[in-house]
Amino acid sequence: MREPISSCALSPDGLSPSGERAFLKWAGGKRQLIPQLVSLLPPILPENSYFEPFLGSGALFLHLVATGLIKPTQARLSDNNEKLMAAWTDVQTKIGEVIEHLQNIAANYNHADPACYYALRDRYNTCSESGTERTALLIALNKTCFNGLYRESKKGLFNVPRGNYKNPNIVPETTLKAVHIALQGAELTTGSFEKTLDWAKPGDFVYFDPPYEPLSQSSSFRAYHKNGFNRTDQQRLAELVDQLTKRGVNVMLSNSTAPFIIQLYPQRDGLRLHRVTATRFINSNKDKRGAIQELVVTNYKINADSPKT
Ligand SMILES: C[S@@+](CC[C@H](N)C(=O)[O-])C[C@H]1O[C@@H](n2cnc3c(N)ncnc32)[C@H](O)[C@@H]1O
Repeated sequence: MREPISSCALSPDGLSPSGERAFLKWAGGKRQLIPQLVSLLPPILPENSYFEPFLGSGALFLHLVATGLIKPTQARLSDNNEKLMAAWTDVQTKIGEVIEHLQNIAANYNHADPACYYALRDRYNTCSESGTERTALLIALNKTCFNGLYRESKKGLFNVPRGNYKNPNIVPETTLKAVHIALQGAELTTGSFEKTLDWAKPGDFVYFDPPYEPLSQSSSFRAYHKNGFNRTDQQRLAELVDQLTKRGVNVMLSNSTAPFIIQLYPQRDGLRLHRVTATRFINSNKDKRGAIQELVVTNYKINADSPKT
Protein backbone atom coordinates (compact mmCIF):
# COMPACT_ATOMS: atom_id res chain seq x y z
CA MET A 1 0.00 0.00 0.00
CA ARG A 2 1.21 3.52 -0.83
CA GLU A 3 2.18 5.74 2.07
CA PRO A 4 0.96 9.30 1.61
CA ILE A 5 3.42 12.16 1.98
CA SER A 6 1.51 15.16 3.20
CA SER A 7 3.95 17.97 2.52
CA CYS A 8 6.22 18.30 -0.46
CA ALA A 9 9.41 20.23 0.11
CA LEU A 10 9.81 21.36 -3.49
CA SER A 11 10.70 24.94 -4.36
CA PRO A 12 8.60 26.59 -7.12
CA ASP A 13 10.80 25.13 -9.86
CA GLY A 14 10.51 21.66 -8.37
CA LEU A 15 13.95 21.49 -6.76
CA SER A 16 14.45 20.34 -3.20
CA PRO A 17 16.03 23.11 -1.06
CA SER A 18 19.48 21.58 -1.62
CA GLY A 19 18.96 21.89 -5.37
CA GLU A 20 18.96 18.10 -5.85
CA ARG A 21 16.31 16.28 -7.86
CA ALA A 22 17.84 12.82 -8.09
CA PHE A 23 18.17 10.59 -5.02
CA LEU A 24 21.07 8.70 -6.63
CA LYS A 25 24.24 9.73 -8.39
CA TRP A 26 24.67 7.53 -11.48
CA ALA A 27 27.45 6.99 -14.03
CA GLY A 28 26.34 8.76 -17.20
CA GLY A 29 23.63 10.66 -15.27
CA LYS A 30 22.18 13.45 -17.37
CA ARG A 31 21.73 16.20 -14.78
CA GLN A 32 24.24 18.62 -16.30
CA LEU A 33 22.99 18.02 -19.86
CA ILE A 34 19.37 18.85 -19.04
CA PRO A 35 19.24 22.35 -20.63
CA GLN A 36 20.68 20.93 -23.88
CA LEU A 37 18.32 17.93 -23.85
CA VAL A 38 15.30 20.13 -23.10
CA SER A 39 16.16 22.30 -26.12
CA LEU A 40 15.92 19.14 -28.26
CA LEU A 41 12.59 17.78 -26.93
CA PRO A 42 9.54 17.23 -29.13
CA PRO A 43 6.14 18.48 -27.92
CA ILE A 44 4.80 16.06 -25.27
CA LEU A 45 1.01 16.37 -25.10
CA PRO A 46 -0.90 15.33 -21.95
CA GLU A 47 -2.32 12.29 -23.79
CA ASN A 48 1.18 11.06 -24.78
CA SER A 49 3.27 8.68 -22.69
CA TYR A 50 6.89 9.36 -21.76
CA PHE A 51 9.15 6.25 -21.85
CA GLU A 52 12.60 6.16 -20.25
CA PRO A 53 13.93 2.58 -20.58
CA PHE A 54 17.53 3.23 -19.35
CA LEU A 55 16.37 5.03 -16.22
CA GLY A 56 19.51 5.11 -13.99
CA SER A 57 19.02 8.09 -11.68
CA GLY A 58 16.21 9.41 -13.93
CA ALA A 59 17.60 12.94 -14.23
CA LEU A 60 15.53 13.90 -17.29
CA PHE A 61 12.32 12.29 -15.99
CA LEU A 62 12.61 14.14 -12.66
CA HIS A 63 13.25 17.41 -14.44
CA LEU A 64 10.25 16.96 -16.75
CA VAL A 65 7.93 16.28 -13.82
CA ALA A 66 9.37 19.06 -11.65
CA THR A 67 8.92 21.63 -14.40
CA GLY A 68 5.44 20.41 -15.36
CA LEU A 69 6.44 19.25 -18.85
CA ILE A 70 4.93 15.84 -18.04
CA LYS A 71 2.70 14.47 -15.29
CA PRO A 72 3.89 11.41 -13.31
CA THR A 73 0.98 9.41 -14.75
CA GLN A 74 2.46 9.79 -18.26
CA ALA A 75 5.74 8.10 -17.27
CA ARG A 76 6.73 4.50 -18.14
CA LEU A 77 10.13 4.01 -16.50
CA SER A 78 12.43 0.99 -16.64
CA ASP A 79 15.99 -0.29 -16.38
CA ASN A 80 17.43 -3.80 -16.43
CA ASN A 81 19.10 -3.34 -13.03
CA GLU A 82 16.67 -5.16 -10.76
CA LYS A 83 18.06 -3.68 -7.51
CA LEU A 84 17.88 -0.16 -8.94
CA MET A 85 14.26 -0.60 -10.05
CA ALA A 86 13.37 -2.15 -6.67
CA ALA A 87 14.80 1.03 -5.09
CA TRP A 88 12.67 3.27 -7.35
CA THR A 89 9.60 1.16 -6.47
CA ASP A 90 10.32 1.37 -2.74
CA VAL A 91 10.71 5.16 -3.00
CA GLN A 92 7.37 5.24 -4.82
CA THR A 93 5.46 3.03 -2.40
CA LYS A 94 7.34 2.62 0.94
CA ILE A 95 9.18 5.88 1.46
CA GLY A 96 8.66 5.90 5.27
CA GLU A 97 10.37 2.52 5.68
CA VAL A 98 13.26 3.51 3.38
CA ILE A 99 13.91 6.71 5.39
CA GLU A 100 13.73 4.81 8.68
CA HIS A 101 16.34 2.25 7.51
CA LEU A 102 18.56 5.09 6.24
CA GLN A 103 18.33 6.85 9.60
CA ASN A 104 19.42 3.63 11.36
CA ILE A 105 22.34 3.21 8.95
CA ALA A 106 23.41 6.85 9.42
CA ALA A 107 23.22 6.56 13.22
CA ASN A 108 25.73 3.68 13.15
CA TYR A 109 28.00 4.98 10.39
CA ASN A 110 31.37 6.52 11.17
CA HIS A 111 32.69 8.44 8.14
CA ALA A 112 36.25 8.27 9.47
CA ASP A 113 36.29 4.47 9.65
CA PRO A 114 36.69 2.67 6.27
CA ALA A 115 35.55 -0.59 7.90
CA CYS A 116 32.04 0.91 8.26
CA TYR A 117 31.78 1.36 4.50
CA TYR A 118 32.96 -2.19 3.75
CA ALA A 119 30.57 -3.62 6.34
CA LEU A 120 27.67 -1.84 4.57
CA ARG A 121 28.88 -3.19 1.22
CA ASP A 122 29.01 -6.77 2.60
CA ARG A 123 25.51 -6.39 4.06
CA TYR A 124 24.22 -5.19 0.68
CA ASN A 125 25.90 -8.04 -1.22
CA THR A 126 24.55 -10.67 1.17
CA CYS A 127 20.98 -9.28 1.24
CA SER A 128 19.30 -12.21 -0.47
CA GLU A 129 15.91 -10.55 -0.88
CA SER A 130 14.60 -7.29 -2.19
CA GLY A 131 13.07 -5.02 0.42
CA THR A 132 13.36 -1.56 1.88
CA GLU A 133 16.47 -2.50 3.87
CA ARG A 134 18.34 -3.42 0.65
CA THR A 135 17.10 -0.20 -0.97
CA ALA A 136 18.36 1.85 1.99
CA LEU A 137 21.75 0.08 1.75
CA LEU A 138 21.91 0.86 -1.99
CA ILE A 139 21.21 4.56 -1.31
CA ALA A 140 23.69 4.70 1.60
CA LEU A 141 26.41 3.06 -0.53
CA ASN A 142 25.66 5.49 -3.36
CA LYS A 143 26.26 8.38 -0.94
CA THR A 144 29.49 6.95 0.49
CA CYS A 145 31.19 5.02 -2.34
CA PHE A 146 33.77 6.33 -4.82
CA ASN A 147 32.12 8.95 -7.09
CA GLY A 148 28.61 7.56 -6.49
CA LEU A 149 29.43 4.85 -8.98
CA TYR A 150 27.25 1.73 -9.29
CA ARG A 151 29.23 -1.18 -10.66
CA GLU A 152 28.76 -4.93 -10.36
CA SER A 153 31.30 -7.73 -10.80
CA LYS A 154 30.64 -10.68 -13.16
CA LYS A 155 29.13 -12.46 -10.13
CA GLY A 156 26.67 -9.59 -9.64
CA LEU A 157 28.36 -8.20 -6.52
CA PHE A 158 28.60 -4.44 -5.94
CA ASN A 159 32.35 -3.80 -5.95
CA VAL A 160 32.93 -0.03 -5.79
CA PRO A 161 35.52 1.10 -3.20
CA ARG A 162 34.88 3.67 -0.49
CA GLY A 163 34.64 7.33 -1.47
CA ASN A 164 36.57 10.04 0.29
CA TYR A 165 33.81 12.22 1.75
CA LYS A 166 34.08 14.17 5.01
CA ASN A 167 30.37 14.28 5.70
CA PRO A 168 28.20 12.41 3.18
CA ASN A 169 24.44 12.99 3.36
CA ILE A 170 23.29 9.43 3.94
CA VAL A 171 19.63 10.39 4.50
CA PRO A 172 18.60 12.67 1.59
CA GLU A 173 15.12 12.91 3.11
CA THR A 174 13.86 16.02 1.30
CA THR A 175 14.98 14.74 -2.09
CA LEU A 176 13.49 11.30 -1.42
CA LYS A 177 10.13 12.84 -0.51
CA ALA A 178 10.17 14.99 -3.64
CA VAL A 179 10.99 11.94 -5.80
CA HIS A 180 8.23 9.96 -4.05
CA ILE A 181 5.72 12.60 -5.14
CA ALA A 182 7.14 12.74 -8.67
CA LEU A 183 6.52 8.97 -8.95
CA GLN A 184 2.85 8.84 -7.96
CA GLY A 185 1.05 7.22 -10.89
CA ALA A 186 4.24 6.41 -12.82
CA GLU A 187 4.65 2.85 -14.15
CA LEU A 188 7.92 1.16 -13.08
CA THR A 189 9.21 -2.03 -14.74
CA THR A 190 12.42 -4.05 -14.57
CA GLY A 191 13.79 -5.42 -17.82
CA SER A 192 15.74 -4.87 -20.97
CA PHE A 193 15.04 -1.75 -23.02
CA GLU A 194 12.61 -3.38 -25.50
CA LYS A 195 10.28 -4.60 -22.77
CA THR A 196 7.83 -1.71 -22.43
CA LEU A 197 7.93 -0.31 -25.95
CA ASP A 198 5.31 -2.55 -27.58
CA TRP A 199 2.79 -0.18 -26.01
CA ALA A 200 4.29 3.02 -27.47
CA LYS A 201 1.74 4.83 -29.67
CA PRO A 202 2.22 7.51 -32.34
CA GLY A 203 3.05 10.82 -30.62
CA ASP A 204 4.50 9.14 -27.51
CA PHE A 205 8.07 10.09 -26.61
CA VAL A 206 10.97 7.76 -25.75
CA TYR A 207 14.27 8.95 -24.28
CA PHE A 208 17.00 6.31 -24.69
CA ASP A 209 20.15 6.82 -22.63
CA PRO A 210 22.04 3.51 -23.01
CA PRO A 211 25.55 2.77 -21.72
CA TYR A 212 27.76 4.67 -24.15
CA GLU A 213 29.92 3.05 -26.80
CA PRO A 214 33.48 3.81 -25.56
CA LEU A 215 35.56 6.32 -27.53
CA SER A 216 38.63 4.28 -26.62
CA GLN A 217 39.28 1.07 -24.70
CA SER A 218 40.45 3.00 -21.60
CA SER A 219 37.36 5.24 -21.51
CA SER A 220 34.98 2.30 -21.39
CA PHE A 221 32.48 2.19 -18.52
CA ARG A 222 29.71 -0.30 -19.14
CA ALA A 223 29.72 -2.36 -15.96
CA TYR A 224 26.46 -1.04 -14.44
CA HIS A 225 25.28 -4.61 -14.51
CA LYS A 226 27.00 -7.98 -14.67
CA ASN A 227 25.79 -8.46 -18.28
CA GLY A 228 27.33 -5.22 -19.66
CA PHE A 229 26.20 -3.63 -22.96
CA ASN A 230 28.02 -4.54 -26.18
CA ARG A 231 27.89 -3.61 -29.88
CA THR A 232 25.18 -6.18 -30.58
CA ASP A 233 23.04 -4.44 -27.93
CA GLN A 234 23.76 -1.06 -29.61
CA GLN A 235 22.64 -2.57 -32.94
CA ARG A 236 19.44 -4.00 -31.40
CA LEU A 237 18.72 -0.56 -30.00
CA ALA A 238 19.27 1.12 -33.39
CA GLU A 239 16.81 -1.38 -34.96
CA LEU A 240 14.26 -0.52 -32.29
CA VAL A 241 14.70 3.20 -33.01
CA ASP A 242 14.01 2.39 -36.66
CA GLN A 243 10.79 0.50 -35.81
CA LEU A 244 9.60 3.26 -33.48
CA THR A 245 10.27 5.86 -36.18
CA LYS A 246 8.10 3.86 -38.60
CA ARG A 247 5.34 3.72 -35.95
CA GLY A 248 5.37 7.53 -35.49
CA VAL A 249 6.86 7.44 -31.98
CA ASN A 250 9.19 10.38 -31.15
CA VAL A 251 12.65 9.24 -30.06
CA MET A 252 15.62 11.04 -28.55
CA LEU A 253 18.80 9.01 -27.89
CA SER A 254 22.09 9.91 -26.22
CA ASN A 255 25.41 8.22 -26.92
CA SER A 256 29.09 8.94 -27.47
CA THR A 257 30.41 10.26 -30.77
CA ALA A 258 32.22 6.95 -31.48
CA PRO A 259 32.33 6.29 -35.25
CA PHE A 260 30.44 3.00 -34.71
CA ILE A 261 27.49 4.93 -33.25
CA ILE A 262 27.49 7.66 -35.92
CA GLN A 263 27.27 4.89 -38.55
CA LEU A 264 24.37 3.24 -36.74
CA TYR A 265 22.20 6.35 -37.03
CA PRO A 266 22.38 7.53 -40.66
CA GLN A 267 20.91 11.03 -41.14
CA ARG A 268 19.19 9.95 -44.34
CA ASP A 269 16.65 7.83 -42.45
CA GLY A 270 14.88 10.90 -41.06
CA LEU A 271 17.25 10.96 -38.10
CA ARG A 272 18.97 14.14 -36.97
CA LEU A 273 22.32 14.10 -35.18
CA HIS A 274 23.15 16.87 -32.70
CA ARG A 275 26.35 17.40 -30.72
CA VAL A 276 26.17 18.53 -27.10
CA THR A 277 28.98 19.32 -24.65
CA ALA A 278 29.25 17.51 -21.32
CA THR A 279 31.77 17.40 -18.51
CA ARG A 280 32.39 13.85 -17.45
CA PHE A 281 33.79 13.03 -14.01
CA ILE A 282 33.55 9.25 -13.82
CA ASN A 283 36.61 8.04 -15.68
CA SER A 284 39.28 5.66 -14.45
CA ASN A 285 41.94 7.99 -15.88
CA LYS A 286 41.70 11.32 -14.06
CA ASP A 287 43.60 13.12 -16.84
CA LYS A 288 40.70 12.35 -19.17
CA ARG A 289 38.10 14.23 -17.09
CA GLY A 290 36.77 17.37 -18.67
CA ALA A 291 34.60 18.72 -21.50
CA ILE A 292 33.60 16.15 -24.06
CA GLN A 293 31.28 16.15 -27.07
CA GLU A 294 28.37 13.72 -26.94
CA LEU A 295 25.77 12.76 -29.50
CA VAL A 296 22.00 13.24 -29.33
CA VAL A 297 19.95 11.59 -32.07
CA THR A 298 16.34 12.67 -32.70
CA ASN A 299 13.86 11.25 -35.21
CA TYR A 300 11.88 14.53 -35.37
CA LYS A 301 12.60 18.06 -36.45
CA ILE A 302 13.64 20.62 -33.86
CA ASN A 303 14.51 24.33 -34.19
CA ALA A 304 16.66 25.10 -37.22
CA ASP A 305 19.25 26.85 -35.04
CA SER A 306 20.14 23.72 -33.02
CA PRO A 307 23.74 22.59 -33.50
CA LYS A 308 24.02 19.75 -36.07
CA THR A 309 26.91 17.43 -36.81
C1 LIG B 1 23.83 6.00 -19.07
S1 LIG B 1 22.95 5.16 -17.82
C2 LIG B 1 21.44 6.06 -17.74
C3 LIG B 1 21.63 7.32 -16.94
C4 LIG B 1 20.33 8.08 -16.70
N1 LIG B 1 19.85 8.71 -17.90
C5 LIG B 1 20.53 9.12 -15.61
O1 LIG B 1 20.26 10.30 -15.81
O2 LIG B 1 20.99 8.71 -14.54
C6 LIG B 1 22.49 3.67 -18.58
C7 LIG B 1 21.53 2.78 -17.80
O3 LIG B 1 21.18 1.68 -18.63
C8 LIG B 1 20.95 0.54 -17.83
N2 LIG B 1 21.08 -0.64 -18.73
C9 LIG B 1 22.18 -1.29 -19.17
N3 LIG B 1 21.86 -2.26 -20.04
C10 LIG B 1 20.51 -2.23 -20.18
C11 LIG B 1 19.56 -2.97 -20.95
N4 LIG B 1 19.94 -3.97 -21.77
N5 LIG B 1 18.25 -2.66 -20.85
C12 LIG B 1 17.83 -1.67 -20.02
N6 LIG B 1 18.69 -0.93 -19.24
C13 LIG B 1 20.00 -1.20 -19.34
C14 LIG B 1 22.00 0.64 -16.75
O4 LIG B 1 21.57 -0.08 -15.60
C15 LIG B 1 22.06 2.18 -16.51
O5 LIG B 1 21.21 2.53 -15.45
